[in-house]
Amino acid sequence: MIVAIDGPAGAGKSTIASEVAKRLGFQLIDTGAMYRTVALKALQAGVDLADAEKLSEIAHQLHFEFAWVDGTNRIKVNGEPLGDAIRTEEVSKASSMVSTHESVREALVALQRQMGNQSDCVLEGRDIGSVVFPNAEVKIFLTASTKERARRRAEQLKEKGETPDVSAIQTEIENRDARDTQRSASPLVKTADAHEIDSTSHSPEEIVEMVLDFARNAQ
Ligand code: C5P
Repeated sequence: MIVAIDGPAGAGKSTIASEVAKRLGFQLIDTGAMYRTVALKALQAGVDLADAEKLSEIAHQLHFEFAWVDGTNRIKVNGEPLGDAIRTEEVSKASSMVSTHESVREALVALQRQMGNQSDCVLEGRDIGSVVFPNAEVKIFLTASTKERARRRAEQLKEKGETPDVSAIQTEIENRDARDTQRSASPLVKTADAHEIDSTSHSPEEIVEMVLDFARNAQ
């Protein structure tokens, strides 16, 4: 079974996808982490984020493993654990630029399909229900207002001891949304068969229960 969880940045996909995968005993594939890894490697190598050819070369050299270790989803890239370096604002922005290139997407989508075909999976991303697994048994489109998403991101940064500028974060989220929804290659869209859930008006527990219900009904 495939459970596809799509939606814009900061809507709460990771929290929901992780809990749902744990409760179902499914593998969890964080496809955003894959685009972030390409972005991080490109930044480290000084590759121009507009250079589709070099970026897809990087994507083709990557091998990903997702595995549950003591209740946490651990990601390995080419055998090495992937740390927090992919979670910076710089990498967030770069990943949304990297992901506009068709050739990069083709390389990563092929890996996502390979992993998804091996076992029951929850995949979170932007194009899972529309492109990667259009026949997914369960499709969720998770949203929240831009303001709420910026507030949540600011809270996360405060917990890390940073002093975030909420309006700058909101602008950056709006820019990422615009790039994700307006790009020609697999833009972020809600498919007609996806269940839309607004996380502004539901608690994470309620949303997890809703998704589990959809999964039970699809079995
Ligand atoms: O979900 P996350 O914020 O980690 O994703 C990072 C970036 O990767 C997004 O801004 C988006 O541009 C891109 N992405 C994508 N398709 C996916 C997952 C992520 O284009 N399936």
